[in-house]
Formats: sequence, structure tokens, C-alpha cells
Amino acid sequence: MTQRMIEIKSALFLREEDLSSPADFSAIFGNPNPLVLEIGCGIGDFVTQLAAEAPERNYLAIDIYNKGCSKTCKKLEQENIANVRVMRIEARYLLDRFLTTENLAAVYINCPDPWPKKRHRKRRLVNRSFLQTLLHYLKPGGEFYFSSDVADYAHEVADQLEQIDGFENRLATPIAFDLTGYPRSKYMRRFLAKDQPIHFIHQRKDPRHSSAPAPPPAAQRGFRAAWSSNHG
Ligand SMILES: C[S@@+](CC[C@H](N)C(=O)[O-])C[C@H]1O[C@@H](n2cnc3c(N)ncnc32)[C@H](O)[C@@H]1O
Repeated sequence: MTQRMIEIKSALFLREEDLSSPADFSAIFGNPNPLVLEIGCGIGDFVTQLAAEAPERNYLAIDIYNKGCSKTCKKLEQENIANVRVMRIEARYLLDRFLTTENLAAVYINCPDPWPKKRHRKRRLVNRSFLQTLLHYLKPGGEFYFSSDVADYAHEVADQLEQIDGFENRLATPIAFDLTGYPRSKYMRRFLAKDQPIHFIHQRKDPRHSSAPAPPPAAQRGFRAAWSSNHG
């Protein structure tokens, strides 16, 4: 699928060619506040709500969907939210190229592309290798939130998290059907309106767990090349 490219002129939009590798997010935001990442921000309604509630944190909202990034910037500007930056970038590439070990105070992934067909499940973003990568980039005590309308995706992620040394469940059960105070994204609202439950996972990196400076082998290194040739 080819995306129609809209030029995004917002001051909240970061272009990868303007960043150093790794990027200096304290300089970008103009403060040393904790950095939170939302992967697959869609049209930005979730991060807009989250960032408004926590001005003492910096948010990086990313998506590979150009129009979504544009809408996210517009929404943030309409709401006068200054503590978010938006990037059109693939998640694994962003981590590998622009972040450093134990950089992130939290990671949010809401309703990731479900790839419901059994033969396509290997395309799901959140798998064991990706969770290990996230663990590496989370600070000790850093939080990981995942939500999905797809039961088997949520169970797969919960099972993997249980097996990875370094993650701790923050809920009474591996999966919950409500998280008090958790903002609703566009896709969450869509599924809830059809009475389809959302499966929530909330874990954190064990505060005593520290990661080696080198990241684990990147999940599907080279993925970006395949992605960019399909998405303009
Ligand atoms: C089903 S939508 C959900 C959007 C939003 N999180 C919500 O709940 O309303 C999944 C989003 O993830 C983005 N996405 C998928 N794979 C991605 C990746 N590897 N890196 C960054 N974004 C990705 C898609 O472009 C899409 O906008």
C-alpha cells in the first residue's frame, strides 16, 4: 500500500534527518524530564490525553502512517500540548537508531495491527524478541502498557512477558479488562462501542534489573528497508 504523503510543517514533528544518532531528547524538549514512547499513535487522541495529564513528562509519539502523524500534530496544537513530539518512523528502527539503553520511563502500545490470520501472526510487532528489545530501552522501574481487542494477541504477549526475566506484572491478573484512568484511543472506543472487550497489560521493568549497554540483536534488522519501499 502506498501512502499519500502530506508535508507536515508542525514544529512538533521531528524529521529523522534532523536528529543525531542517538538523539538528544533533553535538548529537543529543552528539559531533562522522563521520556515516554507511544508506538503506533494513530491519529494521536491517546497521547494528547496522556500528555495533558502529565506535563512533567516528555512524550514521543510515533507511527509509520503519515496522515496519522499529521493529525496527531494538529490535535496537539489545537490542545496547546507542548510536551509531545511526533515522528513518522518504524518502531524497531527508532529504538535501534535514536534511543539509548534505559532511555524510556514508559512505553505504550494500543491496539497494534492485529494480523488475525494464523499465517500472518509472525508479522505482529509485539513478540518475544520485541519485548526483549523494549526491556533493554526501559529504565529500571519503567512501565510497559499494551492493549488489544484481539484476545489471542494479548494472551501471547502476557505469556511471553511471564517468561522474560526482568518484567514484573503490575496487575492482579496477567490481563485486565479495565484500567482505571487509562485514556481511550480511537480504536479502543471503536471496539468498546461494539461491546468488544479490550485486553490490558501493565508491566514494568524490575527496578533491580539493569541492561547491558549493547541492545539484544534487533528484532528483524533490515525491516525498515522493506517497510520504506512499500510506504513511500
Ligand atoms: C490499528 S492502529 C491503532 C492506532 C492507535 N494506537 C489506536 O489505538 O487508535 C495501529 C497503528 O500502528 C501503526 N504501526 C504499525 N506497525 C508499526 C511499526 N512497526 N512502527 C510504528 N507504527 C506502527 C500503524 O500505522 C497504525 O497507525
